[in-house]
Formats: sequence, structure tokens, C-alpha cells
Amino acid sequence: MSAPPTSDALVMFGATGDLARKQLFRAVYRLAHRGLLRVPVLGVALDDWSTDDLRERARTAIAEAGEPIDDRVMDELLRSLRYVRGDYRDPSTFVSLKEALGGAKSPLLHLAVPPSLFSDVADGLAEVGLNRGGRLMVEKPFGHSAASAEELNRRLLAHYDESQIFRLDHYLGKEPLRNLMVLRFANAILEPLWSRERVAAVKLTMTEAFDVSDRGSFYDATGTLKDVVQNHLLQMATLIAMDEPASEDADDLRDKKVEAMSTIRPLESSDVVRGQYLGYLDVDGVAPDSTTETFAAVRLAFESDRWRGVPFLIRTGKALEETITQIDVEFRRPVRPLFLNDECPINRLTIPLKPAGHPSLTLISKSPGEAMSPRAVRYEAIEEHGGGEPPKAYELLMEEAMKGDQTLFARVDGVEASWRAVDGVVADPGPVHVYERGSWGPPEAAALAADAGGWPERAA
Ligand code: BG6
Repeated sequence: MSAPPTSDALVMFGATGDLARKQLFRAVYRLAHRGLLRVPVLGVALDDWSTDDLRERARTAIAEAGEPIDDRVMDELLRSLRYVRGDYRDPSTFVSLKEALGGAKSPLLHLAVPPSLFSDVADGLAEVGLNRGGRLMVEKPFGHSAASAEELNRRLLAHYDESQIFRLDHYLGKEPLRNLMVLRFANAILEPLWSRERVAAVKLTMTEAFDVSDRGSFYDATGTLKDVVQNHLLQMATLIAMDEPASEDADDLRDKKVEAMSTIRPLESSDVVRGQYLGYLDVDGVAPDSTTETFAAVRLAFESDRWRGVPFLIRTGKALEETITQIDVEFRRPVRPLFLNDECPINRLTIPLKPAGHPSLTLISKSPGEAMSPRAVRYEAIEEHGGGEPPKAYELLMEEAMKGDQTLFARVDGVEASWRAVDGVVADPGPVHVYERGSWGPPEAAALAADAGGWPERAA
């Protein structure tokens, strides 16, 4: 099969918005710096801006992101930027865009717009024929339930082939999660450990010390389960749970991911403890009687031969004690424990995402001295060859989408399977418990992890 063509233009819908300012301009600059973006970049939005305004925004956003600036790269990038003003529901916007694109045949069309506009933009693009050869890169949240995700897929697939749709979850572009595939499938020594025979629990932590800040109205309509559990955390859990794919090919990988995701027992309210931090109700844009969760502890079960009976425990939320994103795979104790005592930690493979670090393995060793008493020793990878700085998640995902490689994007069946896992609890979520800012969440969450050694407390 011949490789798909590389995109010959990049179109940023939502170019005046927050995501563009915080992430996308930096990603575009970094791609340009690596010589991977030699195409026109068009920003589209409703705001009454000029091309100069867009260039100014891009320049300041890139500087504020802390990128060291190479003036030659910056000037070239700014020269390639154009602004197209228009309403996403007005067909003339797409006529102007098509004109501005000149003869581009396979533009990457990035929809960083409110989800309610995804299908309008996709339809508008199709009206002017940009569905032929164009690639749609769609931000999260992709729907707000299984039914709405199916409906959105139906609308998109009416005009675009699945091979043209790139459903973005920026966690899939994170280096430690890409490394997880290599760790798991390039090290045969891990495979015999990777199942309920040897694993006692898998713990996924994504705690954030910061609060919802100025995102009150978005967050209040969304909540933690839909903001990060349905997507980022289920993706992480699935990368741990999936079986070995037949090859590195995008569809072989995604087949195995979807297969694993489809074995998740649909969550019920008894599998989840929701929390809301004290003070959340005073945030601008939040309803005064809101029961939206800013914290979720979740007990997930994969009903597969590999994982039946092993809890996958997720703890995530805002305004918590520390900002940590980390996976801990905790192994079973020996059947007949010699040299162990009850306080001794268990074997654990830790994969840190934030703060960044290397995977580490906790083994039990003898404490120095005469007694045969055990202690935990953490073995951490030492990079023998400086690996250099990996691309940032958005940068990598843009690069992959421009190449037409879908490996790091959710497929139609994957996104629907992830919604099916959380749908029940989103519809009938149970009570929300108040917690102190700066704590680890509501005390009620302890019960979910009680039989699995509790929640991990600190970054590795
Ligand atoms: C986003 C969520 O998708 O991911 C945010 O909307 C969350 O609420 C963010 O803070 C976390 O991403 P990262 O890459 O900073 O861990």
C-alpha cells in the first residue's frame, strides 16, 4: 500500500481560542523548527481579526509557552499564517476558506472548536468539497454519551472516510504512553507477569493541585468523568490491558485496544466515588447548586481472561494535594512469603508521566545489617544514551495527522466503546462528596481501594 500524501496545508478552526493560545501555536512552531511544516497555515474563527492580529497572537503565544525562539523560523512561520474570518454555520465561510487554500489537496483541518460545532464545520467543509482529500482532526470531548458519539460519528462518516478522521486525545501523544507499547511488547520478560496471575492491582493517578480556574462554565457542564476519565484515563488503562497486536500497523494496534476496551464492565454508581472541592460553587460560570464532580475515584474491571478480578483503580481530580500523573502496576506477594513482613511494600512497576521521569521497578532487598529484614528498593532506568527531548504531545499528533498515520488517534469503535464504559454512571452518577482543597479528595474514596492496598500517595 502506498503511503498517504502529507498534508499540504494546516487549517486551525478556533485559532483565536484558548487551546490555540496555550498549545497549538507552540506545536506549530516546534514542527516548523524541525523543518516539518513547510505549508500554509490558516486560522479560522468568528472574531473580527486580521492576519496581522493572528500573527501577533501566534508570536506572543509561542513566547509565553517558553519556547526558545529562532527568529528565522518564527518569521517564516508568521509569514505562512493567514486569517479567515467567518461563522462556522455560514456556508460563505467555507467558500472563503477554500479560496484561501488555493489548490491544497490534502489539508489537515483541525477542529479546536466547541463540540456542538464539530458536525457543522465538517458539513460546511464537505459542501465546498474539502472532504475529498482533507483530514479532519477532531478535539475532545467527542460526544457526551455513547448515543451522541455514535450520532457524531454518523454525521462525520456521511462525508468522510474513517481513514480521514483523526479523533484526538492528547494523552496518546505523550512519550511515556508511547513508550509503554515498547516496554510491553519489546520485552518478552514482562509478558508472563502481565495478567491476573501476577498482578494484584493497577493504579492510575491523575491528580491536579490546580482548580478549574477560569473554565467554570465548561467544567460545570462536563465534570471529571467526562473531562478526563472517559478519554485520557480509559486510554491509559487500555494501553495496560490490551493484548499484543499482530503488528505495529495502526489498525492492528487499534483492534487490540478496542477489544480490551470492550471488555470493560460498564461502570455503575457503586464503582465510583465523586467529589467536589470546597469553594467550587463560587467559581464563575458554576451553578450555585451544582452537583458536578471535580474529583472521581473509579474502580474499573476488565472482564477478560487476562484481567478478570484485577481492579484498575483510577483517582483523579482538581484542587488536590499534588499534581501527579502516574501508572502503578502492583504485583502479587509470593504465595509463601519468606523474608517479608506486613509493612514491606510490594513489587511495583511505576510509569510516571507528571512529573516526568523514567519507569521504575520496586523490588524487595535485604536491609543492610545483620537481620534478614526486607526493604523496598526502587530500580530506575538510567539512560545510557541521551535520548534528546521528545516532541510535545500536540506537536507529535499534528505531525502524525499530517502524515496520515492514525496509530495515535481513536477509531470510531474505540471512542464508542469508551463511552459505553462510562455511560451508565454519567447518566446516574450517585452522590457528590465535598472535599477540602489541597487534600486527596473525599474520605469516602478510601473504601474503593481498601482491599487493594489503598491509593498511592506520592509521586514516584
Ligand atoms: C484536558 C482536561 O483534556 O487535560 C483538563 O480538559 C486537564 O481538565 C488536562 O487538566 C490535563 O492534561 P495534561 O497534559 O496537562 O496532563
